[in-house]
Amino acid sequence: MRIAILYGGKSGEHEVSLRSAASVVRNLDKSHKVHLIGITRRGAWHLQPDSVLADCLEGELPLDLRSDAPVVLVVPGTGLRVYGARGSADLPLDVVFPVLHGTYGEDGTIQGLLECADLAYVGADVLGSAVGMDKELAKALWKSIGLPTVPSITASNADLKNIDMLASKVESLLGWPAFIKPVRGGSSVGASKVENRAELESAAQKALLCDNKILIEPFIHGREIECSVLGNDNPRAFPPGEIVPSHEFYDYEAKYIDPDGAALIIPAELDDDARRHIMEIAVSAYTTAGMSGMARVDFFIDKKNDTIYLNEANTIPGFTSISMYPKMCEAGGLPYPALLDELLSLAVERKRSRVNLHYERV
Ligand SMILES: Nc1ncnc2c1ncn2[C@@H]1O[C@H](COP(=O)(O)OP(=O)(O)O)[C@@H](O)[C@H]1O
Ligand SMILES: [Mg+2]
Repeated sequence: MRIAILYGGKSGEHEVSLRSAASVVRNLDKSHKVHLIGITRRGAWHLQPDSVLADCLEGELPLDLRSDAPVVLVVPGTGLRVYGARGSADLPLDVVFPVLHGTYGEDGTIQGLLECADLAYVGADVLGSAVGMDKELAKALWKSIGLPTVPSITASNADLKNIDMLASKVESLLGWPAFIKPVRGGSSVGASKVENRAELESAAQKALLCDNKILIEPFIHGREIECSVLGNDNPRAFPPGEIVPSHEFYDYEAKYIDPDGAALIIPAELDDDARRHIMEIAVSAYTTAGMSGMARVDFFIDKKNDTIYLNEANTIPGFTSISMYPKMCEAGGLPYPALLDELLSLAVERKRSRVNLHYERV
């Protein structure tokens, strides 16, 4: 297949994407033709020279991203077009693989652009991506079919004008300690634990820097369990893994900075019932959210009473060779290169399933 890998991106997770994309490149079957399209932090697309691909294949570093390389434009109804020093040319492709995390990558925006350009792409479509990004909406959908979500209150800047009223609401509906996070965020940016009333305002302000809606939940003293789901119409879940953060919660430092920030245990130590239950919930959460391709569905198991809570779903999870998503697939019998081939096939299959749909009166 002729594949374009999109990486970098206008997102707080730009750096993570450079690492995820490097792993994808190294694990792709060598029979594919790979084009690397780096997206700068400002959102410009550049077709990388062959040397970037060659260096990546030989080395172990994150993918390089050269912003002096030819510009790539998305042409609605056509595909991708490259503008270099010697004019422009179409870039014929079979599938696009967005290895982009967070905003403008995992939230449906890029997916919409690729739909307009009539391209097949890996991962969830516009709707599934947007739902996965919006924790409030995802939880509402899951709750509507009886899946076990953490109770929450949504708040905005307007609610901070009467912080006493908000604090009383948290106290009566959730209790302390509470946890605050942006509705559409990622990598734990803007998230914090709130011990009491006095800490509420500053934590809410911090989360409101990342989004104009925030979620307030009870703080769950929980085990953090994650589950890989793969597929379109008949998705399957892999045996879950566990993250054991050495910090108070799985914060940004524990995820990316502190080398001892967390231990990853694959497979998670769970009894058969809990394992089966989590895998079933993961598949229901995935289909209810309209997801396809892949997602990593994350849970808490309350340490006090073993209650299982569905937390969130990530439609483009971390993809480095030590990331949970590919590791859990591998432990479940699907090695990284075979996982990539399946994702590419799922992308093509989804596109094919829609080509005969009519958009005019039938
Ligand atoms: N209600 C909660 N109680 C305790 N910890 C939480 C709660 N919600 C989130 N966390 C912690 O914060 C981390 C990040 O939150 P999460 O909802 O996964 O958002 P994201 O990963 O998209 O930033 C979680 O992995 C967990 O460690
Ligand atoms: Mg998370």
